[in-house]
Amino acid sequence: MERKPVSDTWERGSPYEQYVGRWSRQVAPRFLAWLDVPPGRRWLDVGCGTGALCAAIVDRCAPSSVAGVEPSKGFLETARRNLGERVAFHVGSATAIPLGDASADAVVSALVLNFVEDARAALAEMARVAGAGGTIAAYVWDYADRMDLMRKFWDAAVELDPGAVRLDEGVRFPLCRPEALRSLFAGAGLGEVDVTAIDIPTRFTSFDDYWQPFLGGQGPAPAYAMSFDETARTRLREHIRERMPVEANGSIALTARAWAVRASVAE
Ligand SMILES: C[S@@+](CC[C@H](N)C(=O)[O-])C[C@H]1O[C@@H](n2cnc3c(N)ncnc32)[C@H](O)[C@@H]1O
Repeated sequence: MERKPVSDTWERGSPYEQYVGRWSRQVAPRFLAWLDVPPGRRWLDVGCGTGALCAAIVDRCAPSSVAGVEPSKGFLETARRNLGERVAFHVGSATAIPLGDASADAVVSALVLNFVEDARAALAEMARVAGAGGTIAAYVWDYADRMDLMRKFWDAAVELDPGAVRLDEGVRFPLCRPEALRSLFAGAGLGEVDVTAIDIPTRFTSFDDYWQPFLGGQGPAPAYAMSFDETARTRLREHIRERMPVEANGSIALTARAWAVRASVAE
């Protein structure tokens, strides 16, 4: 099948919210409950995007402050619109965080580490900003297995176009496995490393409700879907539809699993 080149781009908040932001918002409270950081702490969210995790921190953790660092100005615009003054947002990258040493007690990151070219350098930066005794934690989708909405997409896409396997996030992002996360964190010299699965239900009212967010073109799978002309995209859509567990009322019940990891910076 003919198609345009595909790249990971994060520019516009609204299609992102429809595609994955809404599901990250459901993982975030479960992740924070698992971290169990006491009230009154200083938080930093690295790669905060449209603010899904920042919002949950503000609502649930009684923080003394929350900061968000994010390279995409478009995403930051949405985050600022949603959260205003409650979070201090900065343009920046996980590997060059524009904040001082030991300036946060908990440094967290949601659905980001697999996109960072040098995840080890990102962890070193997160540890620098957290300082001794600080908490470092993150979650990433289980792309290879139970992030069903993407798994169904790529399994069908690769059946039609075997070359798509190198774009499949389950293949591209080996970090999204529990052992890989554990060894990244332990290898960075962090202590008390723990990993857990967080499963949330992702229910779609219809196949269109499932498919529409892919047309936003942002994120690896939507970018792949939008790299085709209308005819080829319709073929892909119908191939996915045939493989979906559609219930009698037209709805589709899937699961999204995130792997969460937490650790502390040695005193
Ligand atoms: C899947 S989105 C997750 C956004 C948000 N944390 C959430 O949970 O909804 C991936 C995010 O990683 C950001 N990102 C990509 N490369 C990054 C880097 N090197 N440093 C920090 N953030 C990065 C993107 O701009 C985007 O906001």
